[in-house]
Amino acid sequence: MISLRREMHANPETAFNEYETTKLLLNKLKSRGLDKVKRITDTGLYALLNGNKGKCVALRADIDALPITEDTGLRFSSKNPGTMHACGHDAHSAMVFGAAMILKDMKEQLNGSVKFIFQPAEEKNPGGASVLIKSGVLRSPRVDAIFGQHILPGKPAGKTGFYPGVMMASQDEIYITIIGKAGHGARPQGTIDPIVTASQVVLALQTIVSRNTDPYEPIVITIGRFSGGTINNVIPEKVELSGTVRTLNEKLRKNTLKLIERTVKGICLSAGAKYKFTISPGYPELVNSPAETQFAEAAAIEFTGKENVFKGERFMFAEDFAYYLKQCPGTFYWIGAGNTSGLHTSTLNLDEKLIPKGAAFMAYLAWDYLQKH
Ligand code: NI
Repeated sequence: MISLRREMHANPETAFNEYETTKLLLNKLKSRGLDKVKRITDTGLYALLNGNKGKCVALRADIDALPITEDTGLRFSSKNPGTMHACGHDAHSAMVFGAAMILKDMKEQLNGSVKFIFQPAEEKNPGGASVLIKSGVLRSPRVDAIFGQHILPGKPAGKTGFYPGVMMASQDEIYITIIGKAGHGARPQGTIDPIVTASQVVLALQTIVSRNTDPYEPIVITIGRFSGGTINNVIPEKVELSGTVRTLNEKLRKNTLKLIERTVKGICLSAGAKYKFTISPGYPELVNSPAETQFAEAAAIEFTGKENVFKGERFMFAEDFAYYLKQCPGTFYWIGAGNTSGLHTSTLNLDEKLIPKGAAFMAYLAWDYLQKH
């Protein structure tokens, strides 16, 4: 498991480009006593283990890395410049691989089948999950329940945390172009200054959060890019804004996107500017089914002891595991990564002790679920 994780870490590939990673995983999984190992899309694969007659549980890992330059100084640092496993997907894959190796030796005691999913492109719209689902990853045999885990920096290595219900946010990208009228910086009259107009838009969008939304409903609107102009004394023709919108329910999501456009439209109207507004829809909110979450938490307490289970938290991150949970029950839970910098940072250095622990628990969870369902 550790060598697989390090090999993946040294050779990271970004979303939808995981060709070598897919090859590596296929090679590692073949001739290991599994009943089927199948590449299902260009990148991404699953393995199947058939025990006795019963239900089918899926364990999911993601396999893609991020466009980040690694700065950990590890011996097995990224050999691909500008690319890094900075979200722990290398560890997620090693753990699902480990669970497969544990369970194939227990095949006779397995009351059903287990599907091990290695999914591409968690980090990029439309997300590998939706692609795999379209390709039939949840069919033949039909998956009855699905479990996935994600590393969490700041929690002790290998401890797990669970959260029933809505645990992560929906995510949409917004792109706004404000089109004014260019001119000399010393003669603003006769121009339509898109920098001033765009600035008003950025501030007004925050009043959607503070004035139009129920204070008990979490919501985030972030403009992460504000781009326009070339030099001090020229009023440019246009400004481009791009941002991300996060909510925890579909109704608020739709309404917020509508309010954003209304705000942009109104401010541009008052300034005499024109605008373009586009939405690139992202993942829906992630909803853990209460029964499976409770089951997984109870299994963790039984398997690792109460002291190794923490109270899971809700985050405004987004995760395409949400798509699986729209198709079948299951839960997505946290596994502590030790004291290290945050997800998506160039210095993320997870504590590898979590890997055998996480693999063992995943195997137990699948086995236990099949025993009791
Ligand atoms: Ni991730």
